[in-house]
Amino acid sequence: MSKKHLAIVILAAGKGTRMKSETPKVMHELAGLPMINWVLKTAAQLKPQKIVVVTGPDMPELVEAVKPYKTALQPKRNGTGGAVKAALPLLKGFRGDVLILLGDTPLVTVETLQGLIAAKGKAGISVLGCTLKNPEGYGRLVTDKSGALKKIVEDKDASAKEKAINLVNTGAFCVDGAKLAEWVGAIGNKNAQKEYYLTDLPEIAARKKVKTHIHVICDETEVMGCNTLSDLAALEKTLQGRLRDEAMKQGARLIDPATVYFHHDTKIGRGVTVEPNVYFGPGVEIADDVTIKAFCHFEGVKIASGGSIGPFARLRPGTQIGKDVRIGNFVEVKKSRIGKGSKINHLAYVGDTDMGEDTNFSAGAITVNYDGYDKHQTVIGKGVMVGSNVNLVAPVTVGDGAFIAAGSTITDDVPADALSIERTEAKTRKGWAASYRKRKRSRK
Ligand code: UD1
Ligand code: MG
Repeated sequence: MSKKHLAIVILAAGKGTRMKSETPKVMHELAGLPMINWVLKTAAQLKPQKIVVVTGPDMPELVEAVKPYKTALQPKRNGTGGAVKAALPLLKGFRGDVLILLGDTPLVTVETLQGLIAAKGKAGISVLGCTLKNPEGYGRLVTDKSGALKKIVEDKDASAKEKAINLVNTGAFCVDGAKLAEWVGAIGNKNAQKEYYLTDLPEIAARKKVKTHIHVICDETEVMGCNTLSDLAALEKTLQGRLRDEAMKQGARLIDPATVYFHHDTKIGRGVTVEPNVYFGPGVEIADDVTIKAFCHFEGVKIASGGSIGPFARLRPGTQIGKDVRIGNFVEVKKSRIGKGSKINHLAYVGDTDMGEDTNFSAGAITVNYDGYDKHQTVIGKGVMVGSNVNLVAPVTVGDGAFIAAGSTITDDVPADALSIERTEAKTRKGWAASYRKRKRSRK
C-alpha cells in the first residue's frame, strides 16, 4: 500500500442528541483532548494524502479544533451517507483508498486501521467488524453461508433474527476512491430513521458484483462508539488504562494505577513514584526520581528531579518546582517559582512568588497576593527562613538569608540577613488560669 493513495474522511457532523448536551458530541473530551482530536492523531499516523472532517452547521468550535485539517459542511444532518456525500467535492479526482472513520469512535488504533486498509487490498470495500457480547445499538454484519458480507442492517431496522447477530459494524470503512461517489449516490433513505446510511454501501457494491471484506478485530474496547455520557465514561476508563500503561512503560511506578488520572499531555520521567489518588491536569511535566505522595492535584506545573510532593498538595498553573524541593501536606502553590532545595512542608499558600534556593516556608505561612482587585508579586531570596503563620503582604521582597519571625505580617521589604518581626508583646499573668477555673467551677 502506498501512503500516497490514501485519503481519510472523518464523520463528525452529528449533533449527538443522546449526549444531552449543547456541546457537539465529538468535542467532548477524553483525558482533556476532544474526541475528534484523538481520531485525528491516529489518522495522521497513517500519513494520508488528505484528511477531511465533515462538520454540521453551527459548529465553529469543531472547525477550530480540527485546524489545520480541511472541513466539509454537511448542511443537513441526514445520516452518515449524507456526511460522506458532503466530503465528495474535496475528494474530486482522488482515486486511491478512502478510509472513512467515525468521529465518535476515538480509540481505534493505527495498527487496526492498517489491517483494515490491507484487508481491502484490491477489493471494493473493507469493513471493520467486531464480535460483541452485547451488540445492541450497533449495525449488524449479515453474512452468507461462506461468511461473505451480504449487507449491514442497522439496529433500528433489524429483525429479531438479525438482532441476534453479534458481529457488528464498528463504523470504519475502507473504500475504493474511484467508485465512492457512484456508490454514495445510490444510497437511499427508505429505513426506520429516514436517513442516508453509509452502511448501505456493501449491499450497493454487492449488486455490482464488487466484493466487500470484513476485517474482524477482537479488542472491543478499541471500537467502542460514544453515543451517551455513560459511553463517554467507559471510553475515558479505557483511555486512562492506556495512559497509565504508557507511564509505567516510561519508567514511572504507579502503586495503584486505577486511581491515578492522566491528561493527554502529561509527561512523567523515570524513577518517579506515584502514590494512590493523584490527578494530573493539563500541562504537567515531571522529571526523574520525584515522589508524588497520595491525593495530589496538579495543573500547569513543571517539577524538576528528585523532590517529594504531597500528600494532599495542590500545584496550580504557572508553577515551576526546582530540583529536590519538598512540598508537604495541604500546600497550594500558584504561578510561582520555587528554587532548588526549598521546603514548604505544611499548610501554606504561595502565589505569584519567586522563591530562591534553600528557603524554608513554615507551617501556616502565606503570601497575600490579592487585594480584591489585583494580584501582586512576592520575591523571596535564597536561604530565607519564613516562620510559621507569617503573612507576606505583596508586593514585597525578602532579601537572601533573612529571618521572618513566626506570626508576623510583613508589609515592607526585608533586607538580606535581617530579622523582621511584627508582634504585640505577650503578657503572662501567673496563676490566672487556675483562679479562672476555680471561679467557673464554684458557680455550678
Ligand atoms: C453508526 C453506524 C452503525 C455502527 C455504529 C458504530 C450508520 C448508519 N450506522 O451508528 O452501523 O454500528 O455507528 O459506532 O452509519 N454523523 C454525521 N452526519 C450525520 C449523522 C452522523 O457526520 O448526519 C457522524 C456523527 O457525528 C458520528 C458518526 O457519524 O461521529 C456516527 O453517527 P451516529 O449517529 O453516532 O451513528 P450510530 O447510531 O452510532
Ligand atoms: Mg455513534
